[in-house]
Amino acid sequence: MITIGIETSCDETSVSLLEDGNKILSNLVSSQVEIHKTFGGVVPEVASRIHVEVLNRLIELALEKAKKEFKDIDLIAVTQGPGLIGALWIGIMAAKTLSLALNKPLIGVNHLEGHIFANFLGEDPPTFPFIALIVSGGHTEYILVEDIGVYKILGQTLDDAAGEAFDKVARILGLNYPGGPEIDKISKMGKPIFNFPKIKCDRELDISFSGIKTAVLYLVRDLKKEGKEIPVADIAASFQERVVEELLERAFLALNKFNIKTLVVSGGVASNSYLQRRFKEESRKEGIKLYIPPPYLCTDNGAMIACAGYHLYQKGYKSDLYLSANPDLLLGER
Ligand code: KG4
Ligand code: ZN
Repeated sequence: MITIGIETSCDETSVSLLEDGNKILSNLVSSQVEIHKTFGGVVPEVASRIHVEVLNRLIELALEKAKKEFKDIDLIAVTQGPGLIGALWIGIMAAKTLSLALNKPLIGVNHLEGHIFANFLGEDPPTFPFIALIVSGGHTEYILVEDIGVYKILGQTLDDAAGEAFDKVARILGLNYPGGPEIDKISKMGKPIFNFPKIKCDRELDISFSGIKTAVLYLVRDLKKEGKEIPVADIAASFQERVVEELLERAFLALNKFNIKTLVVSGGVASNSYLQRRFKEESRKEGIKLYIPPPYLCTDNGAMIACAGYHLYQKGYKSDLYLSANPDLLLGER
């Protein structure tokens, strides 16, 4: 069974051809990051226009790379939300057109569901139930995944998403956008010598990044005022350590609370090298089976959307041509 996955929820246009739900035949990503970099963040209108420019060609290239033709497609999966409304619509219109022209089923996929299912692309997929931690540029959520399509949000960020916090702190430190990979890189040259405050929220599985972000901001401001050099690598390493330790602590709290032995981590921030090291160390110690996709599947891509779409379709879920973009789509909502 061949599924095409189309992802246009933010600043990456991506198309993938997937065989039988886990074999990636092609997974092309056209990143707009170089364009948005000049603005220091994603400009929604610019993102939509670029999706329009590249999507049709990307679909052709993904088919070519997979050595398939339009007639070989059995299922069309597309990101329905959450994301930027204009950007989402570009992918959805292309997917609907394919569904109508090829007379093949259409399935709308929640972008977060896609991130979770990036972990099902290997040979040894996770078994239900499991705890999923999504850490991306737009989301930070702890989810109890009971089955395909059955999700319970256990906790989430009260302000910025983890990736957003990395991006903003990078900006304070004068690093490039997107800041996550920059902080990851420069942290390797620094030491976590600054003690940023512990994160406290009323609900134990919620998280908040505004305190630590402000702490970085004040530290840099005070050092500048005193005419001192900014130890960028040390601040980056300290910030990264604090954030990862907080994410880790809550993940294990969730695992213990529900007595679950499988942890799935996904989203752009999951490709952070310190996060990967610490999650692996703790999982080994605590006998937890840990899943983190390879970096190219952590960030936004069409393969994860195709994979989630395939599994949902196998479970009996399906969309129709009334499928609509929903920028605030909740997990489990259809
Ligand atoms: O999942 P993703 O590609 O897009 C969203 O759905 O948001 O995540 C992008 C986010 C950005 O904020 C980026 O800075 C962050 O993931 N990111 C990282 C790393 N690589 C990407 N954050 C920390 N360390 C990294 N190595
Ligand atoms: Zn994403």
